[in-house]
Amino acid sequence: MTLDQEIDGVRQQLQQDLSQINPTQATLETLRIRYLGKKGIVPALFRYLPKLAVEERPDAGQMLNQLKNETEKALDDLHQYLIHQQENRATFFDYTLPGKRPPVGHLHPVTRTMNAIIDIFRRMGFSIAFGPEIETDYNNFQALNFPDNHPARDMQDTFFIDRDILLRTHTSPIQVRTMLQNKPPIRILAPGRVYRNEAINPRSYCMFHQIEGLYVDEQVTFAELKTTLDIFAKQFFGAGVKTRLRPSFFPFTEPSAEMDISCFICGGSGCRVCKQTGWLEILGCGMVDPNVFRSVGIDPEKYTGYAFGMGPDRISLLKYGIDDIRLLFEGDIRFLNQF
Ligand code: DAH
Repeated sequence: MTLDQEIDGVRQQLQQDLSQINPTQATLETLRIRYLGKKGIVPALFRYLPKLAVEERPDAGQMLNQLKNETEKALDDLHQYLIHQQENRATFFDYTLPGKRPPVGHLHPVTRTMNAIIDIFRRMGFSIAFGPEIETDYNNFQALNFPDNHPARDMQDTFFIDRDILLRTHTSPIQVRTMLQNKPPIRILAPGRVYRNEAINPRSYCMFHQIEGLYVDEQVTFAELKTTLDIFAKQFFGAGVKTRLRPSFFPFTEPSAEMDISCFICGGSGCRVCKQTGWLEILGCGMVDPNVFRSVGIDPEKYTGYAFGMGPDRISLLKYGIDDIRLLFEGDIRFLNQF
């Protein structure tokens, strides 16, 4: 075989090797050793040179150098290609892949309860009213028939800001604000946060929620109050629940009552949640006291009204079977994600 033919053979073999390997830095290194290493194919051909006639050596030397250069270039090109491919992979972005959903939150269990309660009363013609969390003593107590130094004030441990300004202890001052600003008929539902200076424990927290209801018109009766609340209870807790009213006391209503529903956990037969009584207390209510009407300039001879107030936190605890109110307000995502 002539040197020409040998060189052509090496060229062909290199092409074949290059096309057959799975190109990686490792296979590239194997090829480099096979072709250009000390004992490689190309240096082996150079060892022919001394065996050739003197006049043939310059041409042969040139051809061999060319082969060496070609081989080096082919392997260098492959090296560059591999580097490129790696960079591409690092920056490659597939626009056709489905996106990752950003984590979105969801409504807090108490918000869900409040929305459900609001929806029911909205369908019965109540509109929604709000008031500030920082209130005057007048709106929070005085106008609601809690006279100064009256023992009824002790029912609600108050955070005072100064003598006449406080964090509202209930949503009832929204009744006062609404009646001062509007003429009957008035039919509102007032949700909001309230604050009490109470020892924090599984049953009570320094902040919680209330939903207040108020209906004032001519000839509003206790029977309407009872019916409205019964309809609410059946829609919210289920058509099977029974309701009952027990006499109670609130300064701003006369007569006053508390409403119980038959325990929706045991159906009334008695369980741990209803403390074996078969009943759960869910709200306070009554007919607006004439003194409240007088303090907001509504004529108690002409108008009557009913009011009620409930705690959506407690209702949420019952509904979701949670036994510690603090869980609702600590913002622990492991708790909240369960709803
Ligand atoms: N404000 C009362 C409280 O915080 C709840 C309440 C009871 C509101 C009876 C009312 C009502 O409107 O009629 O304990």
